[in-house]
Amino acid sequence: MKTTTKLALSTLVLSLATGVALAAPAAENWDNNCASCHGADGKGQTKQGKKLKVRDYSDAKVQAELKDEDMCKAVMEGVKADGKERMKGFKEELSADEIKDLVAHIRKLKA
Ligand code: HEC
Repeated sequence: MKTTTKLALSTLVLSLATGVALAAPAAENWDNNCASCHGADGKGQTKQGKKLKVRDYSDAKVQAELKDEDMCKAVMEGVKADGKERMKGFKEELSADEIKDLVAHIRKLKA
């Protein structure tokens, strides 16, 4: 293999590796930031989820009520009811792309 080809290849591998490190995969973000309330399966059957009465996101009916843009906004800005915070916003921790991926992840939790 020519040196230039080798160099180009190692640069490619390097940039791929850093790309992965920058944006965590949605499943990982879900487990780390969301599953404590919404559950790994999205059903919300955790101690906190039951207390907060989160909806079951594996339920097709619940999913049908949710619009992608509203979900993105909720994850970014948080969810309030009667002036009280029900869920905090994640715009400090997560990028817009990561939030979009999380919404796609929630769609895949549909039973
Ligand atoms: C402290 C508990 C808690 C955590 C952590 C949490 N949520 Fe929520 N979430 C709630 C509550 C409470 C609601 C409002 C009730 C409901 O819609 O089930 C909600 C609502 C939502 C909604 C529905 C918004 C709408 O349009 O009605 C989405 C989507 C959502 N959460 C996604 C996420 C994602 C993604 C994460 C992680 C980045 C996350 N949540 C972390 C408690 C939490």
